[in-house]
Amino acid sequence: MRLDIVTIFPDYFAPLDVSLLGKARRAGLLDVHVHDLREWTHDRHRTVDDTPYGGGPGMVMKPEPWGEALDTVAPPDAPRTPRLLVPTPSGRPFTQAMAAELAAEEWLVFACGRYEGIDTRVVEDARTRMRVDEVSLGDFVLAGGEVAVLVIVEAVGRLLPGVLGNADSVADDSFAPGAMESLIEGPVYTKPPMWRERAVPDVLLSGNHGAIARWRRDEALRRTARNRPELLVRLDPALLDKHDRRV
Ligand code: ADE
Repeated sequence: MRLDIVTIFPDYFAPLDVSLLGKARRAGLLDVHVHDLREWTHDRHRTVDDTPYGGGPGMVMKPEPWGEALDTVAPPDAPRTPRLLVPTPSGRPFTQAMAAELAAEEWLVFACGRYEGIDTRVVEDARTRMRVDEVSLGDFVLAGGEVAVLVIVEAVGRLLPGVLGNADSVADDSFAPGAMESLIEGPVYTKPPMWRERAVPDVLLSGNHGAIARWRRDEALRRTARNRPELLVRLDPALLDKHDRRV
């Protein structure tokens, strides 16, 4: 998968050399190109922002450098077009389902906004020639899109074939499609069996796979009810089994 990231802070993306994603890059599974938006400015101060029309606080990113940047990174006459992702608190919520959808793409371009955001015409113009998604990580405001892009790239990158050592761990994720869809994962344990007078639940040591699966599902239901009650109402009744009612 090819990723192009346009930002005024290329240094933010140093973590993409580390850990899982760093390994994926070195293995040739992820081809990441980070571009400095200021390369597409033409004034002495390399200006990327200006005051908002209509007044108000803060600054808005100017359309001209963004237009040139996107035309260079994804030329309008090229045979392939990427999918453009623009992180913004006013976008659609980013979900595991979206991460899975993006993991099937060949080429993603990310536009990192700063300040009060990017002049709206940039996204309108880009939409005439590529798929564009404005995505939000949640109901909070970051200083810019860079950290959001790191989050999205990690969520997508770990789903690419060959990136995770154990493919099963993706199937077990919270929010992963399947019988445990819309549930968050329950607690996990490793050795030793007793630590600071706290024992690992017997069932996990029992070797009874059916009982372990049942316990994990009960714990996932319980934790979802406690931490994310709004997810329970979204549970597909067809995915419930008769034992779920006990919880
Ligand atoms: N940029 C600033 N805040 C953001 C958020 N919550 N999600 C995505 N991008 C953002």
